[in-house]
Order: sequence, then structure tokens, then C-alpha cells
Amino acid sequence: MKHEIKRELRTGSGERPERSRGTVSAADKAKAREVSLRRVGALFTAHRWPLIVVVAIIVASSIVSMASPFLLRAVIDKALPEQNVGLLVWLVAGMVAVAAITSAFGVVQTWISTKVGQQVMHRLRSDVFTHLQRQSIAFFTRTRTGEVQSRITNDIGGMQSVVTSTATSIASNLTTVVATAVAMAALSWRLSLISLVVMPPAVYLTRKVAQMRREITAARQRELADLNVTIEEGLSISGIQLSKTMGTAPALIARFVESSKRLIDLELRSDLAGRWRMASMNVIFAAIPAVIYLSAGLPATSGRMTIGTLVAFTALQSGLFRPLMGLLNVGVSLTSSLALFARIFEYLDLRVEVDDPTTPIDIEPSEVAGRVRLENVTFHYDDAGRPAVDAVSLDIPAGSTLALVGETGSGKSTIAALVARLYDPSSGRVTIDGIDVRQLRLADLASVVGVVSQETYLLHTTVRQNLRYAKPSATDDEIEQAARAAQIHDLISGLPDGYDTMVGSRGYRFSGGEKQRIAIARTLLRNPKVLVLDEATSALDTETERAVQQAFDTLSRGRTTITIAHRLSTVRDADQIVVLDHGRIIESGTHHSLVQDNGRYAALAA
Ligand SMILES: Nc1ncnc2c1ncn2[C@@H]1O[C@H](COP(=O)(O)OP(=O)(O)OP(=O)(O)O)[C@@H](O)[C@H]1O
Ligand SMILES: [Mg+2]
Repeated sequence: MKHEIKRELRTGSGERPERSRGTVSAADKAKAREVSLRRVGALFTAHRWPLIVVVAIIVASSIVSMASPFLLRAVIDKALPEQNVGLLVWLVAGMVAVAAITSAFGVVQTWISTKVGQQVMHRLRSDVFTHLQRQSIAFFTRTRTGEVQSRITNDIGGMQSVVTSTATSIASNLTTVVATAVAMAALSWRLSLISLVVMPPAVYLTRKVAQMRREITAARQRELADLNVTIEEGLSISGIQLSKTMGTAPALIARFVESSKRLIDLELRSDLAGRWRMASMNVIFAAIPAVIYLSAGLPATSGRMTIGTLVAFTALQSGLFRPLMGLLNVGVSLTSSLALFARIFEYLDLRVEVDDPTTPIDIEPSEVAGRVRLENVTFHYDDAGRPAVDAVSLDIPAGSTLALVGETGSGKSTIAALVARLYDPSSGRVTIDGIDVRQLRLADLASVVGVVSQETYLLHTTVRQNLRYAKPSATDDEIEQAARAAQIHDLISGLPDGYDTMVGSRGYRFSGGEKQRIAIARTLLRNPKVLVLDEATSALDTETERAVQQAFDTLSRGRTTITIAHRLSTVRDADQIVVLDHGRIIESGTHHSLVQDNGRYAALAA
């Protein structure tokens, strides 16, 4: 049987190579297998007492419910024929009591297990979010946004069912099956044996369908993640802007429609696989009572059983159907649950590339002088290919200004990122006041180095909250002062809602120059000793440019400043100017000396 399934699988995936994303890859399966049950169990150890209570309730509940068939037999074989009203009332009351008790147990059990499930989910969600926050920029450039969202919401959401349905149903099905089997044997061992004949076909069918469903579930999960990515890429502000300006809307729509359509097929197959199995199992299980009545009537197999026993037995046996099916499905539920855990653990196991040092050097950020040095720094984005920064050495005395110029792609932003330790150099080191930045706590480094980057990112909240994000303790006064210094106060206070204006998703409410000044105000609030200014390449009108320039000047006063300049006006007054080309320094000096040298800078400035 096993061989058959394997062969089916192999040909199944071989026939449709173009749909390889739609089938379970061997790697996926291996991953699910690798997740140790111990690790999954560890998530629940904190909740062991509630879970023990749940199991106790389940066991108690199945034992109580086993009283029913015996009460029924007594009603039919004794109370009714003897017309014993007293006994009848007791028996009937017992039947109602059994139902009431098991229902009450059920409510309590659902309450506890759902609570545990939700708590575990909450932990995982928070852990994944926290861990991903610590990931370096490199992780996010590698990963599709929709993918992260899908794992945090869909996959962890799916785990809830592991606890509330998979785990509890295993426990309750197992106890019900055992209790029912014992009760059946107690009522009539002959009939019990006869009932066993349906087991082999039931097991065979379940196995076969389980295999199918597993594949479909995995494919559906991937398709959903794909759909999420398309939504993120097609319906976020940047995405929609791109698609409108590039005219890619039809292609995006086609991709979404395709993806959505594949989902129809997958859902259909998934539901049908379930239905077919249910249908065939129904027939098999419906055959059992028929066989039982038949054997009860045949002298060879009847064993002189009473009508009460027969009725009680068939009642019991019909209750065996669902839990038995459930148990046969344990493998499927477990594998799909483990696959979910595997995807989440994969995120939790990501190495933190840029991490806090184990033994950090204590510094007082406000007492840092701010001398920045790059010592023979080389940096590769990928292992292959040429370095983005190639053996760069820089010495920027505290309080001085260094301007980086060079063609697009020459490595200016990369140097800025290395100073802020968004990446670690492949070789060489970056120091502040002589201390390697890798020896500083990331939080300390963040208070020392302020970055205003090429692309300003504003949170979807009010202007005030955006500014306060930089310094949660800032008073409204401080916020206004910073905005004034950044030349943006007048504009903000002129808005109908002033500082309570919503910036809109990613700040699209504001123009590039305005956003940049908000970002400058934000950085002013943090008051860093070292400043990295990556000027926006977007052309600003002269008036805005002047305002932004003034804001930059205010910001850089008294700080070590690394400016990536696209406007030569900024560069002219810098203490040092460094010209980069393909990640290497090709010239350096002051505006004056460089113009005299008549090299690349002179050509740029001309
Ligand atoms: N996340 C990344 N992954 C791989 N390569 C990258 C990444 N970011 C930048 N690069 C590459 O590194 C090189 C330097 O890029 P960088 O952003 O530092 O240039 P830049 O001088 O700031 O350019 P611009 O003036 O256009 O802002 C470029 O060749 C770029 O393609
Ligand atoms: Mg850049």
C-alpha cells in the first residue's frame, strides 16, 4: 500500500513541473519532520496544569458518557418489560444527567484549552515580531513583506487549532474510543469482534485521502502567501504608485487573478477530498449496524443476546464513528500542524547578524565626543561580486563635517549604513571615540548616531506622534522647538489639525521636502553626537531647498556630520570632501584643494 502511494506521489508531481510551487516539496516535508515534538511541547510546559486539567476532564467525560448505553439496556430489558416506574424514572433521570454533565465538562474544557492556545499564540507572535525586529536590514531586503505578514498572522493563527482541536481531539477521541471499546466488549464480545471487520477498509481510505489533503493544504498555504505578496505589492501606496506610473496594473491584476483562480481549484480539491472520504466512510460505517442486526438474528452468532443489549450496542457503535475517524486523521493533523510550527521556528532560529555584544563597553551617549573613524573598511552585500565599499579609511574629527560625493551606486549610502551599524563590515572596523561600534550596545549606538536617510519613512499616525517616536519623553514644547529648527513648524501649524494631522500611509500626505524636514525635526529631538545625512536625490524647488538646507545646517551644528551630498552648495563648506568611485576613495580634500587638483571633483563642480 505504501509503495503505491509513493509511486502516485512521484508521478503526481512529475506530471506538472510547471506547478512545482503547488506541490509539497521534499524540503518542506523534511522540515516538518525536523521540528522536534519536544520543542513544540516546550511551548506548552508553562501551561502544564491547565492542560492536565483538560485531559482529566476529557477522561472523566468519556467515562461518564459510557453509562448511557448501560442505562438504555436497563430501560429496555428491565424497567419497560417489568413496568417498574420508579426504576424507569431513575434510569431516565440518569440519562439526562449524563448528557448535562458531559456538556458542562465540554464547556469548561473548551474554555481552558482555547485560553492556553491563545496564550501560546500570543507568545509566538510576540517572539517572532521581537526577533524579526532584531534582524539586520539584509533580512528585509531578502524577504518579501507579504511573506512575513502571512507567517505572523496566518501560520500562527493556524496553530490555535493545533491546541484547541488537534491536541484536545486526540485526547478525547482516544479516551472515547477506548471507553467505547471497553463498554462494547462488556456488552457483547461477539458483536465487538464482528464490528472489527470494517477497520481495514477504513484505515486504507483514510491513509490515502490524508496524503492528498496534506499536499493540497501546503499548496494552499503557499498560494495564500503569494496572494498576500501581490496585495502588498499592488495595493500599498508605493506599489500602486509604481504600477500606475509604470502601467503595470494589467500585469499585476492578471497575476492576482491567476493566483486567486488557482486558489479556487485548491480549495475545491481540498473540500472534495474531504467529502469523498466522508462519503465512503459513511457507507462503511452504515454497514456495521446492518451486519450487527444480521448476526444478532443468526443462531450461529447471536449468543442469546437480549434486545436491550442489541440496542445499546448499536448505539455505542454509532458513537464510535467520529472519534475513530479523528484518530485515523491524527497523522494528517499532526503533520500539517508541525509544518506550521516549522515555518515559525524557522523565523525564530534566524541568526541575528547585527547583534548586541556579549560584553558591551559602557558609554554615556551624551558624553561622547564624536570622532568617527573607518579603518580599512570593506563591505560586500553578497558573498559573490565586487565590494560595495572597498578598503575605505576615513578620519572625521569630533564636530567636523565630511561630505561624501560620487556617482550613483558608488557606495555613499553604504558607508552611512556602516557607521550606523545597519551592517557590519566584511573586514576593517568603524570606531567612535576609538571604540569599535560592534562593542557598543545597539541602543547606545542609536543615541549617538542619528540618521536622516534618503527615503523618509513616516508612521501612519499624527505628525506629533511621528516626532515623539524619536523621543517618547518629549514635551509638546520640545516637539515644537524641534519643528521650528527644522523649518517645518509654520507649515504644520498652518494645517487644519496642526500637529494632530495624520501623515497618511508612509507620509504620502507630505511632499518630499516636507517629509525630510519632519525627519530632521525627529532627529533633532534625539540630539545625536554623530549625524549621517543622506540627502534625498529628488530635486527640490529652490525655496524648499533653502529651507531644507537651513534645517540641515541647524541640525549639524556642533555635531560630527557625514553628509552625502547631491547639492554642491552643501559640499563647499565641508571640512573634508571625499570622492568615491565604485566603493573606493579616489580623491579627498577641501573644496579649494580639490578644485585646484583639477580631478574628478573639479569636473563635478564645474
Ligand atoms: N541591499 C543591497 N543588496 C545588494 N546590493 C546593494 C544593496 N544596497 C546597495 N547595493 C549595491 O551597493 C552599491 C553601492 O550602493 P549605495 O546605495 O551605497 O550607493 P550610493 O552611492 O548611495 O548611490 P545613490 O547616490 O544612488 O544613493 C551599488 O552597486 C548597489 O547596487
Ligand atoms: Mg544612496
